[in-house]
Amino acid sequence: MINRLIPVADRLLGVEEYYFSKKLQEIDELNRKGERVINLGVGSPDLAPPENVVKVLIASAENPQNHGYQGYRGIADLRNAFAAWYDKYFNVQLDPEREILPLMGSKEGIMHITMAFVNKGDEVLVPNPGYPTYAAAAKLSGGTVKTYNLSEENGWIPDLKNLGKTNLSKVKLMWINYPHMPTGAIANREDLRNLIAFAYKNNIILVNDNPYAFILNETPLSLLENRTGEDHVVELNSLSKSHNMSGWRVGVVAGNPRLIDRIVQFKSNMDSGMFLPIQMAATRALEEKSDWYEKQNRTYAKRSVFAREIATLLNCSYAEVTAGMFIWAKIPAEWDSAESLSDSILQDARVFITPGQIFGSQGRRYIRLSLCSPKEDWQAALKRISSIRKEIKDQKRKRA
Ligand SMILES: Cc1ncc(COP(=O)(O)O)c(C=O)c1O
Repeated sequence: MINRLIPVADRLLGVEEYYFSKKLQEIDELNRKGERVINLGVGSPDLAPPENVVKVLIASAENPQNHGYQGYRGIADLRNAFAAWYDKYFNVQLDPEREILPLMGSKEGIMHITMAFVNKGDEVLVPNPGYPTYAAAAKLSGGTVKTYNLSEENGWIPDLKNLGKTNLSKVKLMWINYPHMPTGAIANREDLRNLIAFAYKNNIILVNDNPYAFILNETPLSLLENRTGEDHVVELNSLSKSHNMSGWRVGVVAGNPRLIDRIVQFKSNMDSGMFLPIQMAATRALEEKSDWYEKQNRTYAKRSVFAREIATLLNCSYAEVTAGMFIWAKIPAEWDSAESLSDSILQDARVFITPGQIFGSQGRRYIRLSLCSPKEDWQAALKRISSIRKEIKDQKRKRA
């Protein structure tokens, strides 16, 4: 039988396999050979979700009535719980019927929003550095990526004055993500108001992707606090990081009801509702009191001390005040790129640290350390990196 290669669809040509999907295979391979790689790269919380949430999931899954297809807009309890959560923590009042749509994680929301609004030839503004999925979704939809640079000098906040001088006539959608991943930058209320005004003036849909609002962040802010009825503004949120539920796939898109309707129009053709026990457990998770977030943050704060110690050991510099579950650190001049630093640490110390260029060219002189590993891993990573420091110096000397 002749086995002919079937060409993939054109839309896949501009999109590479997700960096972590490839890197994790490499790490798995090393681990299979008996190496014990310490992974300080991936932002998947290792801490447990709230105890009662798991109990609700189990009890609900035991009910044979709870295994059928679900409605396309999620159960009312979950929408009400998201509305109460936004009210309590962000001081944003949302209509649970029309302004809230539960999602299977915010990542799918990025795709659905893009597919619902972006045509071939439309442009999508994505941050550089930024979460790679914004650009991937734009390309998959047939749209064109227009990156906007963020820089340390500008506090990783968009330079709207300069952006406003470029041709924005084809831009349909703009992604922002504050607190920002990977840099940990925090936008204040004025920044968010300016962004809304900018989007309104240029007739652009503005989306804030907000999964890190509760991690090491004193004042969770929502873009929706500043909306008016006419703005084309929505926000994504997620239980992945706030409640240590990344594998559960629970998120939400909230905001302008006309946009939400169009997102449902696309999404309802993609899935058939979220498993009811997950929705019921997520409802419970959203009822957690503020001490839940405080407890997580005490752990993250301790880990961030280790992460900064490692950054210092590697002669990297970093900002003192950031939010989110990563430390973003600038590599010293001796290294030609963050990737060579990351590869060298993986090779010599069996510690994986994410090189910043996977988030865009503006990240090429930075590394990102994830706070999702236990204390023992941080201690071991510190030891391993201290012991190879001399080798690193020798390598750098050789390169020079
Ligand atoms: C900025 C950003 N947005 C979205 C996501 C995806 O979150 P979710 O698990 O809700 O799909 C991540 C995950 O790492 C992220 O860093």
